[in-house]
Amino acid sequence: MSSWPGKLITFEGVDGAGKTTQVLLTAAALEQRGYTVLTTREPGGTRLSEEIRRLLLDPQFSEMAASTEALLYAAARSQLVGEVILPALESGSVVLCDRFVDSSLAYQGYGRGLGLDLLRTVNAFALVGLGAFYTIVIDLQPEQGMRRFATRESDRLEQESVSFHRRVRDGYRALAAAAPERIRVVDGSGTPDAVQARVWAHVAALLEDGEQGAPFGG
Ligand code: TMP
Repeated sequence: MSSWPGKLITFEGVDGAGKTTQVLLTAAALEQRGYTVLTTREPGGTRLSEEIRRLLLDPQFSEMAASTEALLYAAARSQLVGEVILPALESGSVVLCDRFVDSSLAYQGYGRGLGLDLLRTVNAFALVGLGAFYTIVIDLQPEQGMRRFATRESDRLEQESVSFHRRVRDGYRALAAAAPERIRVVDGSGTPDAVQARVWAHVAALLEDGEQGAPFGG
């Protein structure tokens, strides 16, 4: 059970999966039904976290160590949770977050090969005070996702190999299988409206039964 009146729903998936569009469509659907909605993104969502995002995604920092990367993502997250997410949940909003802690497990854990337990420890520190939430993984073949950003300049993470993005996708599926009470996987193929219909089925169920899960199980 969560300890605040609001709800946090995080959206996850490989690059180009369509999360951002689904966050916007879900926000509009919720607002239409009278919910107060706050949308935000990771890394980012605060003045400081957006600066950290700039560092993380800048292709010029090709020397960035995996450990540095993991800590910067966790630092950006900690600021967002304290400054934006917790206050919004306390005031009763539905918070939709474009990426959250599962991105670190999928990208830095499965993608980069950092230990999942270590990442959980670092992120438990970063998430101080945040309890249960709910997660939707938009599942798409990484090759399909990569085609969607092929027409613009890619950032540091998007420039990773197809095999990196495959590990990320497999990572999300493994995380979902291990935490079915919190994570729902939605097929990301088809039109945005078709995907939204699948997403909405889960969001509506969540709002009805209040089922959420702890960030790291248990
Ligand atoms: P975005 O383009 O979806 O906003 O995400 C920025 C990139 O950062 C994306 O390639 C995924 C990556 N990322 C991580 O590697 N670890 C994290 O914890 C987060 C939040 C994002």
